[in-house]
Amino acid sequence: MAVLLDSASLEDAATAAELGFVSGITTNPTLMARETSQPLAHLDRLLAVFPRGPICFQPTSSAFSEILDEARAASALAPQRVVIKLPATLEAIRVATPLVGEGISCALTAVYSPAQALLAHETGCKWVIPYVDRAARQSVGGLVVVDALAAILERLQSGTRILAASLKSAPQVVDAILHGAHDVTAPLDVLLALPAHPLTESAVREFAAAKVKS
Ligand code: G3P
Repeated sequence: MAVLLDSASLEDAATAAELGFVSGITTNPTLMARETSQPLAHLDRLLAVFPRGPICFQPTSSAFSEILDEARAASALAPQRVVIKLPATLEAIRVATPLVGEGISCALTAVYSPAQALLAHETGCKWVIPYVDRAARQSVGGLVVVDALAAILERLQSGTRILAASLKSAPQVVDAILHGAHDVTAPLDVLLALPAHPLTESAVREFAAAKVKS
């Protein structure tokens, strides 16, 4: 299992790098647009600030050859670490096959159906990325989507892993794993909230009080 940070912020990346349990980062064009530098230059800075594990980058071009060029340029920054995220559309899926053939890791994102997961498997993608909370908000049932992806990938004995995204709370992270996600990605506030429990906090207060008395 891997826990990733879903953010393009350099500050978030630096904080996550020190948490110890975060092993990579996912970005998307919306997150990148909040940053000031140009996407590839910003990716390079993220690679430096978060110095281990995969960092997912999503090309913003729309034509086949331009997506390929942008993906290759991103991968060239750190071939062992950059994973190219592609939305699960026909146009983007076409790009996955040559990229995977060149040894570039790819992931299909914004996934809501087992048919899309099947194509992630067929194209040799590392990850299939369902948007759990967005599906829940649309009454599709976020965890139902994860169940369906897990079933098809298990049936295929696939090496493609489920990376659950659009997770808004610690319980949602846990539920995604219980429903078959292999890995999760979440914003920094959700990652920081993972260990929070009122009884743990009251035990810590009790320990602190005992220390003062002794
Ligand atoms: O990485 C995917 C994620 O950022 C999209 O989910 O619901 O937070 O916009 P959402």
